[in-house]
Amino acid sequence: MYAESQLLQHQKLLTENVFGNPHSLNPTSIAATRQVDETRETILKFFHADPNEYLVIFTSNASSALKLVGESYPFPGGRYLLTFDNHNSVNGIREFAHARGAEVTYIPIALPEMRVVDSMLDEQLANSNPGANNLFAYPAQSNFSSVQHPLDWIGKAQARGWDVILDAAAFVPTNQLDLSMVKPDFVPISFYKMFGYPTGLGALIARKSALARLHRPWFAGGTITVASVQGGKYYLADGAPAFEDGTLDYLNIPAIVIGLKHIESIGYEVIHQRVLSLTGWLLDNLTAMKHKTGKPLVRVFGPTTTQARGGAVTVNFYNENGNAIDHRYIESEANKVNISLRTGCFCNPGAGEIALGISRVELDVCFTQPGHAQRLSLDDFRLCIDGKSSGAVRISVGMVTNFNDVQGFLQFARGLLK
Ligand SMILES: Cc1ncc(COP(=O)(O)O)c(C=O)c1O
Repeated sequence: MYAESQLLQHQKLLTENVFGNPHSLNPTSIAATRQVDETRETILKFFHADPNEYLVIFTSNASSALKLVGESYPFPGGRYLLTFDNHNSVNGIREFAHARGAEVTYIPIALPEMRVVDSMLDEQLANSNPGANNLFAYPAQSNFSSVQHPLDWIGKAQARGWDVILDAAAFVPTNQLDLSMVKPDFVPISFYKMFGYPTGLGALIARKSALARLHRPWFAGGTITVASVQGGKYYLADGAPAFEDGTLDYLNIPAIVIGLKHIESIGYEVIHQRVLSLTGWLLDNLTAMKHKTGKPLVRVFGPTTTQARGGAVTVNFYNENGNAIDHRYIESEANKVNISLRTGCFCNPGAGEIALGISRVELDVCFTQPGHAQRLSLDDFRLCIDGKSSGAVRISVGMVTNFNDVQGFLQFARGLLK
């Protein structure tokens, strides 16, 4: 959620200035360019990134930052390696990899904590293709289980010939990412996940050396120095502009500075500690809840302690006989008391399949059924995995969550006990 002060500061900036499309050299355009440049610098400073090493590409969200890498990465003959618990926008890069002849490999995660087994990762990392480009992607924090994977995988992978996408979208809202300590090649983020406002803005923080190896599949307004119709040629601009298609969201971009300063005014230490304290308390209370039969109310998918995890707690609820309660029912009950819960698989199907015990065989049977070649509705999919839960419930603790919010949720959960 955003702070009122963020809105007021942004409103003041827009009321007191006139900004124009930054692609010109007139006063309003120069004023906008100054704001955009300052925002890039502030973002780099915020993440302790050396401007000689990293640059900031503005995008509309984390997904479009990921797509920029996927569509431009020199995949032919190479490998794309990723963990099971990636967001769909990281999974989706595999389609670019497949189309350009790269080998795609998933590293499994193991219940109950939903972490990667180190030896499996080491085995895969040792297998980069030395004659081609190799890309490894993982979330710094899973948006399903909230597991925080080790950041030292980055250096380890790079030493073995991999470029690394560190999906930091779920990590940076409550954890400091220090790009002077770890040096991922590509870092996608979404700003509204960090400070609520504005929506529709993200960034790809990219290492210049890795970016230089990408090849954009097209050009657009703003991305070139020269393009010719009769000559059939175009020349891409240097650095970030080559990856920023069309007009930047120059009125909202300055609100990123306001949001980052808001986080800094509280401090990551405080945010992180507060989120972990509330998460620990939520976990302890939730896992202690038992029906009269002795059956537990919830099962947590992910770590049940505050060790190397973030502030989202993903669970399914069970009745007094130990049978899973449909997550859609839990959501509808929560709606009645004005609690907004996220349910389903959270765009993270790999983690969902592991958590809910949906096997490869079941999925193959489902996807090869007559009528399922091109289209599959969520209801059809539910029929396929007959009897199993098709999703879970996620309770997220963030920067603005307070004791009453968590207590309110626990009271709701207690109301489900029989
Ligand atoms: C870990 C992770 N990666 C990527 C994304 C995609 O972000 P966006 O929807 O802003 O593109 C999300 C969104 O939930 C996420 O949690």
